[in-house]
Amino acid sequence: MKRLLLPVGLLALALGAAGSGGAWAQADVVGQRKEEMKRSGAHLEAIKKIMDAGEAVGPVAPRAQEMHGYFATLPTLFPAGSTENSKARPEVWSDRAGFEKAASNASEATAKLAAAAGSGDRDATAAAFREVGASCGACHRNYRAR
Ligand code: HEC
Repeated sequence: MKRLLLPVGLLALALGAAGSGGAWAQADVVGQRKEEMKRSGAHLEAIKKIMDAGEAVGPVAPRAQEMHGYFATLPTLFPAGSTENSKARPEVWSDRAGFEKAASNASEATAKLAAAAGSGDRDATAAAFREVGASCGACHRNYRAR
């Protein structure tokens, strides 16, 4: 778990320093968004454990907050042409408005989750958590290849 706490920006910096060509920049952004997606997956798993165990929901808040920061800027990690080694579907670019809406839905759901967890309200946290999960699935269904 320690590894997951390293700022992803460091990885991007390291890769950026290693090369300057367009291909590098692209590998960079695809790698970065995948890494962030994986971190979100790890956050979801950790939150599910907290909920299943009936533990205090406070620790959910910083995880939700971090995901919120990611989803708020997610579309910037999908620049046109960044398709190499990627499962992003062409609709990410051809239906940009829909993709950005899916990202903002996830951003709003994670903000709601952070607020609910911060207030210590277990029911509200559980409801917001389901919403976050649904927002991941909604985007994947339309914009990620299987
Ligand atoms: C706005 C759209 C969108 C939202 C919201 C979204 N994803 Fe993704 N996700 C994608 C796309 C597109 C890919 C494929 C990225 C690629 O391969 O370039 C992806 C890939 C992934 C991957 C695979 C990463 C890898 O290593 O290849 C995981 C895991 C993942 N998402 C988890 C999540 C979780 C968990 C959430 C919700 C908390 C979430 N995603 C929300 C669009 C989204």
